[in-house]
Parts: sequence; structure tokens; C-alpha cells
Amino acid sequence: MTIPSDLIARMTLAEKIGQLNMVSADYAITGPVVAGDVTGALRAGRVGSIFNLYGRGPARRAQTIAVEETRLGIPLFFGFDVIHGFRTVFPMPLAEAGAFDPALWEETAREAATESAEAGLDLVFAPMLDIARDPRWGRGVEGPGEDPLVAMRFARAKVRGFQGRRGRAADRSVSGVVATVKHFVGYGASRAGRDYAEVDLSERELAEVYLPPFQAGVEEGAAALMPAFTDIGGLPLTAHRALITGKARGEWGFDGLVISDYGAIGELIPHGVAGDLADAAALALNAGVDVDMMSYAYEKGLDEALSRGRVTMETLDAAVKRVLDFKDRLGLFDDPYRRCQDETPEPAPPTRRCRAIARKAAAKSMVLLKNEGGALPLAENPGRIALIGPLADAGQDMLGSWAGAGRGTEAVGVFDGLTAALPGTAIDHARGVSIDGNGDEEAEKAKALDAARKADHVILCVGEAGWMSGEAASRARIDLPGRQEAFAADVLALGKPVIVLLFAGRPIVMPELFEKAAAIVMCWFPGTEAGPAVADILTGRVNPTARLAVTWPQHVGQVPIHYAARRGGRPLMVGNKYTSQYLDMPNAPLLPFGAGLSYTAFGLTEPSVAVGEKVEVETVVTNEGARAGETVVFLFATDPVARIARPVLELKDFSRIELAPGESHTVTFWLDRGAFAYPGADLKPVVEPGDIVLHVGFSADPDALKSATIRLD
Ligand code: IFM
Repeated sequence: MTIPSDLIARMTLAEKIGQLNMVSADYAITGPVVAGDVTGALRAGRVGSIFNLYGRGPARRAQTIAVEETRLGIPLFFGFDVIHGFRTVFPMPLAEAGAFDPALWEETAREAATESAEAGLDLVFAPMLDIARDPRWGRGVEGPGEDPLVAMRFARAKVRGFQGRRGRAADRSVSGVVATVKHFVGYGASRAGRDYAEVDLSERELAEVYLPPFQAGVEEGAAALMPAFTDIGGLPLTAHRALITGKARGEWGFDGLVISDYGAIGELIPHGVAGDLADAAALALNAGVDVDMMSYAYEKGLDEALSRGRVTMETLDAAVKRVLDFKDRLGLFDDPYRRCQDETPEPAPPTRRCRAIARKAAAKSMVLLKNEGGALPLAENPGRIALIGPLADAGQDMLGSWAGAGRGTEAVGVFDGLTAALPGTAIDHARGVSIDGNGDEEAEKAKALDAARKADHVILCVGEAGWMSGEAASRARIDLPGRQEAFAADVLALGKPVIVLLFAGRPIVMPELFEKAAAIVMCWFPGTEAGPAVADILTGRVNPTARLAVTWPQHVGQVPIHYAARRGGRPLMVGNKYTSQYLDMPNAPLLPFGAGLSYTAFGLTEPSVAVGEKVEVETVVTNEGARAGETVVFLFATDPVARIARPVLELKDFSRIELAPGESHTVTFWLDRGAFAYPGADLKPVVEPGDIVLHVGFSADPDALKSATIRLD
């Protein structure tokens, strides 16, 4: 069945507005539920979709009311934030981005989609595609990092993973969900890294950096789009007709649903662009926002907006039609219960298969930042281990923010993971201090220091609690919170080789840690299989391959920071004060974009280049160490002279390669001429003739790149 052709004609105004109204379920002790007042609204046809309701039982009960008890029987759809997994939690997106592995990105999205659909969901509010260059912003952890090319590939892989490869036919599949690209657009540029703060982006930065990931997601067929909470230059995205209807729908051909962020239509009032809810509703609807998530602005304001002549019935009907088409696209008019066939009360716990994928993904996302004197991997019989720090035996904090339906109790912490991996080894565990620094911790701290003194290896697990990154989790100080810095300093002062496991949603600045620790592994928030994945890395069962998808600053004063900056007219010249620099801090980050070590060492040759129909770039990569390993090779370009100044480096491609000890292999990149296009003075893509310098390397460290110049006609 498709949508009855006269359906819109038969709808009352209230029923039409109801279709545009998305409400949240409540959370009871038994799990998500539809509360009494929502049930009433549902029966009255004033609700078109529900989010935060999962589990086939609750979904089926709500759907039964919509289908059997409302006048027109229009089915609901169900959405949820499945940012990095549903019941099985995978690493946070920023961590997974560092795997530089589109096949992995797709695989974890696919698994998350399957689990979500099995729990009655139709739609996920993911992937989050906001470029983030300021680690103070808490939401950077939810996205693919600082680079637009990485974000574009991430967008495509995630949309494919969630929605399936087969396009629209797959949207009806009971084992898949549809994706929402969010937050459209520029949210990551919130001023001073403070969440929800003002955004002022140039048209150029928007076109070059912030929009391309969304375009990629739309081209891949994303079924929904969520405008950001924020504004650009005073115009909130929720009211941004030029970007939603002009750019996304008009230029890119986006034909899906636009769903507001939580309360964002109502927030047009505090933003200062709407006088009341009717005004706000009119601005959003006219901009192209179809669904109102939790502002009740459409419910309370559209009637009035119509009377004031601020919106037309035609515009309203177009939004209603998009909602109905969306439901049809999901197959809900054919079978409203397709994803909630029975009343299974609980989403199933992670299967062994999903856990295996989560473990692989987590290990592939952990970045070895430092490894001195072969501190890692641990020897087969490593002797006595002191496993200390507030995150040494954590469950929930391993999941990070937006943990979906994941449970801390189902997450394997570091202590359990390491104990299982090293059965004969004595592991003394002590928390040392708490993350928030509350309470009298002297006894715990003394116990941890004592364990460290007696140990052959000290493994220090520090970082952020899961809630310290994510939404509304900006930090002005990006150091180790609470008393962890003092505790870490005491541990490092023991003079033992200390292996630091950092768990956080952003780069952490603590110079002493980087100076004194023997080894540092950035674990991010690894998810359900944190402990086994950490053990895989520490024991060398997995040779680390992950890289940083963001630049790691030396000091918070350097942020925002990213590798693809423009040179400026006075680039840094050491010894010349009147060049671009700080008086008290180098310009260079602590670690560049792409940094990450392995237990083996890789080398690569100067690139050889050929310009034909495509530009071909080759470099021979050699595993120069004694262990098998995998590495990521990056291809950057510099356009030294262009009509509009270009960044010093721009990522053009990347490739993973696995090599046995001593083995060499040629990595070849092919670039279309279009790869060298940039938005010209009129912001239309232009390829200018002239020299382009191509660089290959293992990170964006300018001193370690190998380069060759080509000439474009
Ligand atoms: O999808 C999220 C969004 O990222 C932030 N605000 C709430 C939405 C729904 O939970």
C-alpha cells in the first residue's frame, strides 16, 4: 500500500500539525515509556513521531494507538540517538574516525542499525558531521574531527552503514534504519568552543570546510537532516531558508525530512529573531523545517501563524506530505509494525558477534601517542602490574556520552580485560583518586602509590568521565579534571616507567604527562569492549594503527587549531618578532593531525608523480621494524600560488596498508583534476593552472612529509 491519495485532503488542521510534531518518550525504571499526557496527545492525532522510545513492546503499544485509535490511523515513526552504537557501544565517532577505515565506519553503523531496528526504531539521529577544530567544544567527540575530506568519507560510510547499500528499497527493510545528517551546519565553530554559542563563518569556510560533509551525506541518500541549534552571523539554522531549502533541497536535491533539534524552534525567541511561538513556527516552517522536536511551536503557533498570513496552507501541506512520504519510504504504510512485530520487552544484550566487532573497532581506534624504550607492548610475562587511576575499573565511563541503550554493566573495564588477557599476572588495582575530585581520598591514593612502588609496570588510567564530553560539555581547561593531575604527578615522580591510558573525548593538555610517561595510549571512550581492546593493544595482540583525526594542542591558548591553516602574509620566521607567533608558546601543536605510532616502524619514499587524465602519485612504503603492522599513508597537496590563498596543506586522500616485517609495497593514489578545485572568488569550484606540490607522509607534520611538484595546465 502507498499513502492514500486523498489523505492530506481528509486531514483537519490539527491532524496536519500533529504529523509535524515529534515528542520524546519518558524514561521510567523499566525503560522508556510513553507517559500519560503523550498517550492522550497520540490518541488525539497530535503526535506524528516519537523519539527516545525503544524496545519492540513500547514501540508496538504506541503504534497500536496511532494506527487503531486515531481517526486516520497514520503510523508513527520512532527515532533515537544512535551515535556510536545502540546496545553494543562502539568507540566514539572521533575515535573511530582515527581508524581512517571507511569499511570499519560502515560496519559499525550497520551493526548499530540492525540492533536499533530490532528494538523497533526507524530512524537514528546520526551521523553527526560537524567539523571540530576547537577541543574545548564538547561535541567534537561525536563527529569525525577537523578535516573535511575525512568527514565526507565518514558521512558516506555511516549513511551507507545505517541505511544499507541498496538505497531506498533498503529503507523499508526491517533490519535497517534511516540516517539523519546533523547538525546542519557550522555548529562546531561555536565561538570559544562554548556549546550553543554564536557562530560567525565566512561563506568560504562554510563552502570549503563545513558544508561538504553534509553534501556527501545527502548524496549518499541520507533520509533526514537536522539543523544546528546555532546561528551563522545572526540567522539561526532553524530559520535558515537559504541553507535548508536553497542549498540542501535546491542545490543538492535533498528530498528527505528536516527535523528540528530539541526545542530549537522555540529557541528562535531567545535567539532574538522571533517574537513569539507563532513567529518562530512561521520562520522554521518557511525555512523548510518539517518536524518540530519538542518545542510544541507548531502545535501552539502554526494556527496563529496561518491567521497572521505568515505561512500558507500550501507550505504546511508540503511539510505534511514530506512526513507522510517519509513514513511511506520506511514502509510504515504497508506494515506499521514492521520493526515491532512482537512485544519483546527488552532490546537484546550485545551478541558475541557484536562484541567482537566492538573490540576490533575499539582497538583500531586507540592511538599510541608515545612509546619510549619499548615500554609497550608488555612482555609475555610482564611481572607485577599496578593498574591505578579512576578509570582503571570503570564501566559506564568507558561508553562515553550518547551511549544509546548501552549499559555500563555490560561494558568490560580495563581491569577485567587485562586480567583475562594476562591470567598468571598479579594485577594490583587501586583507584587513587576520583575524576571529580570529591571526598577524602588520601587512603586510596596511598594504596595506589604503594601498588605502583611495588610493581614492575605501572598502568595509569586517567581522563574524563563519560559525561565530560558531548552535548553541553564544553571545557575551558582541557586538562585532567579533578585531582588527577596532582595524582598523576605523584605517580610519575616515583621514577618508574609509567604507561598512561587516557580516556577522554578531546585532546588533554598536561605537559608533564607527555614529558615523563614512558608510553601513552589515547583510548578515547572505547565502548562496550574497552577492556579487551586495551588488553589487545597493551599485550601487542593488536599492533596500534589509529591516528589522530584532530590536531593535539600544546596549550589551550593555541585553540582553535588545525593543520589546514593559511600561511598569512607574515608566516612564522623564528627570530623575527613581527611574524605570526606567540611570545610565550610555539605555534606548532604537540601532535599533528594524523599522528600515531605503531610497534613497528614504517618508512616511505619520495613520491613519484605523473600527470595524465588523472594525477598518479606513488610512494613505496616499507615496514622497517620487526613486527607485522598496518599504517595509514596520507596524501596532502599545497597550491602555492592561487587567486585566493590556499591552506598550507590539504588532505587529498589516505590509504591503509598492512606489511610484514621488511616488506615493501607501492601505494598509489589517483586524483581527478577536480580534486584540485577550490571555491573561487564567486565560490564556484575552480581549478587554476599552475604548480601543485603533492606530499606523502604518515601525518600532517610538515617536517616529515616527502614532496613532488606537478604542473596543472
Ligand atoms: O539528536 C540530538 C541532538 O544531537 C542534540 N539535541 C537532542 C537531539 C535528540 O536527542
